[in-house]
Amino acid sequence: MRIAMIGTGYVGLVSGVCFSDFGHDVICVDKAEEKIRTLQAGQIPIYEPGLDVLMAKNVAAGRLSFTTDLATAVDGADAVFIAVGTPTRRGDGHADLTYVMAAAEEIAQAVTAYTVIVTKSTVPVGTNRKVHAVVSATNPSAAFDVASNPEFLREGAAIDDFMRPDRVVVGVENDRAADVMAEIYRPLYLRDFPILTTDLESAEMIKYAANAFLATKITFINEIAGLCERAGGDVKEVARGIGLDGRIGNKFLHAGPGYGGSCFPKDTAALARIGQEHAHPMQITETVIRVNDGVKKRMIEKIREACDDSFNGKTIAILGVTFKPNTDDIRDAPSLTIVPALIGSGAKVRVVDPQGRTEGEALLPGVDWVSDPYEAVKDADAVVLLTEWNEFRALNLADLANAMAHPRMVDLRNIYSARAVLKSGFDSYVGVGR
Ligand code: UDX
Repeated sequence: MRIAMIGTGYVGLVSGVCFSDFGHDVICVDKAEEKIRTLQAGQIPIYEPGLDVLMAKNVAAGRLSFTTDLATAVDGADAVFIAVGTPTRRGDGHADLTYVMAAAEEIAQAVTAYTVIVTKSTVPVGTNRKVHAVVSATNPSAAFDVASNPEFLREGAAIDDFMRPDRVVVGVENDRAADVMAEIYRPLYLRDFPILTTDLESAEMIKYAANAFLATKITFINEIAGLCERAGGDVKEVARGIGLDGRIGNKFLHAGPGYGGSCFPKDTAALARIGQEHAHPMQITETVIRVNDGVKKRMIEKIREACDDSFNGKTIAILGVTFKPNTDDIRDAPSLTIVPALIGSGAKVRVVDPQGRTEGEALLPGVDWVSDPYEAVKDADAVVLLTEWNEFRALNLADLANAMAHPRMVDLRNIYSARAVLKSGFDSYVGVGR
């Protein structure tokens, strides 16, 4: 199969590289010349474990290339994937479809023979029909079908998620498009990963429903964590106790500082907006958004309490600012709520993050960046563990405590035990929901 992948952001790049690894011929297209030059030079503009090696392998095999020339990539492609951004539109929370529709127009102008135009970007219900209308209007003689193929990969585990998915969802208009999509995903199908073929709207809805459900699950356990702090109980035990019930499942029940990242905040906002537009408010999702904002703010109070109720003049070491480990992504991360609040209340903040510095320097002004946790805690009044990078899981607690002016730990990911921390010379330990 010949595939054109429009957009080399997270989803586009990972999908393009993985499709080429399936044996398909893939051309990745982006308007950003600098990005394409970087990719052509064999470098990747994002941090994703294993992606560079897989990319190099498939470029060397002649199956994967990068260009800014959309028309040449689309010409003769069996399928053209749209994987451009759908950011939250300012003002109304709706998904901004400007890039998707612009791509659809450009593809329409370049189509020379039958192709399937596949939306991989997360788009509101009804968008694929709009893409169909735009392509038909732009080029009435274009031979094409549209398909919806939402992506469920997680940052930091993207390749494995793509290669070993829980399921692939494909929304189609007819059998001809379904056959092309089945051929593209045949390598997964043959390895028994389920491929669910639906109508266009169901596929679009599945993506939002899945992300909103997961965001709800996290927010639920975060709310239970808050209650445990007041009423008693350890949220880790509670999560384990409910997670062993197969109907609930044990995943996505880690209490923490609130969800962030490039998907959950954006997609829950968009789903709430879709509900309002259809006069069917998504009350649970709307509440989840509100509660998650409150969870992030509650973390500031936890840290304040740990610091004897004042940040003024205190030095606070922050371990991790990315929204989760194994990524350089800080979008909508809890750190963006927490760190400025500490600085605003007079704290001096020192940050260490294995990959977050590049994005962090722009988004978190006024912090001191250091490269080592032990340097971060030197003479500090508290250490706050904000992202559970593996590098932070096995720190020498006694060395940390010895280096600090006031050895106090606020562990917002519950990766340490109070007993071990206190035994190592810390004066206090605060976790989440315990
Ligand atoms: C998510 C979905 O998992 C993925 O299917 C979709 O395609 C994109 O959005 P991602 O944003 O990369 O992926 O990360 P994920 O691992 O799902 O974590 C999202 C946020 O939830 C992070 O801030 C993480 O720290 C938080 N989280 C996750 C928790 O606080 N507790 C958990 O138990 C799980």
